[in-house]
Amino acid sequence: MATATAGTTRRDFLYIATAAVGAVGTAAAVWPLIHQMNPDASVLALASTEVDLTPIAEGQIVTVKWRGKPVFISHRTKKEIEEARATPLAQLPDPQPDQERVKEGHDQWLVVVGVCTHLGCVPLGHQGDYDGWFCPCHGSHYDTSGRIRQGPAPANLEVPTYEFVSDTSIRIG
Ligand code: FES
Repeated sequence: MATATAGTTRRDFLYIATAAVGAVGTAAAVWPLIHQMNPDASVLALASTEVDLTPIAEGQIVTVKWRGKPVFISHRTKKEIEEARATPLAQLPDPQPDQERVKEGHDQWLVVVGVCTHLGCVPLGHQGDYDGWFCPCHGSHYDTSGRIRQGPAPANLEVPTYEFVSDTSIRIG
């Protein structure tokens, strides 16, 4: 019986993770558009993904896939940037200034790997106590810079390697 219980728990966990992916409503709406810009699945593992940022409205977060992982691209509002920068580093479990998590001159764009640093669920955008992301699996709250603020996750959402290839497009990887 203990085995059956463990199996059920495991399935529940997977179900929650899947539901979290599906619940990124805003991202799902723009997914078809972004998806067309992604490389074919056969080359996905290779590499870099170029993303046109022009369809992403201010205040919107979209999810693109990079090397099989979700990557969140947040077009931050002035308020979201200010909130991130006004936070004293001493209040952060994994202290890192917002300025180090974005590219200079492109402060409105935050690009982070959409994988919770606790046990790998996909956090939900524009949720949680810090207006950034909330991971429903075990209750981790991230801020508008993708930094962990509360809950069991030990580290900030990872910023992947990326660069601006023009003012309106980035290459991830
Ligand atoms: S996996 Fe996100 S809080 Fe545990």
